[in-house]
Amino acid sequence: MTFFKNIELGAGCGNFGKLFFSPCCLTDKNKELKIACDICHLDCFCDACELPFGENTFGIAILCNPYGYGFNTKEETEILLNELTRVLTDDSRIIIIGNHRNKYCTPKRIEKRIHQISLQGVNIHFTVKETDSACPYMGYPFLTTDGRKTNPNKEITLYVRKQFNTGLD
Ligand SMILES: C[S@@+](CC[C@H](N)C(=O)[O-])C[C@H]1O[C@@H](n2cnc3c(N)ncnc32)[C@H](O)[C@@H]1O
Repeated sequence: MTFFKNIELGAGCGNFGKLFFSPCCLTDKNKELKIACDICHLDCFCDACELPFGENTFGIAILCNPYGYGFNTKEETEILLNELTRVLTDDSRIIIIGNHRNKYCTPKRIEKRIHQISLQGVNIHFTVKETDSACPYMGYPFLTTDGRKTNPNKEITLYVRKQFNTGLD
């Protein structure tokens, strides 16, 4: 059985997670990608909001150009983050790489949603940085859902801390 340290959601036809965050389990909801991609790198077909993995399985979850799922509404943010923080370990990260105009992952919207929701037993700390020429991902061919090239310009990292009950008063 393959051991995966990290997970990429909505990976499409790409292999971003395997190139930069290996060993990484590449997942996407769309089963048609199996034949649509020139080379299909996906390890598992699943919805980012319903992951077939146990609790505390991965150290990093990666979302590149999320579209059709993500942080657009409070409700979808709550469902997504509940599921991601379930499969992530304590002291883990969610890395979102996208364009500032993509409504599913604009930094402002993600920040607002994080303040709007409360996740039981989980603290999330938020940082944003520009993706510039110094960024190791710059040459990677990121794609839109319909296969056009896109240039993400923001990298948002959510640092996840789980609060364990120690049993002490
Ligand atoms: C804009 S593409 C990005 C593809 C790739 N990450 C990239 O940056 O090149 C968005 C991908 O998210 C997938 N997707 C959409 N909704 C999803 C969901 N609920 N769960 C998992 N993947 C989803 C789509 O099938 C598509 O492959």
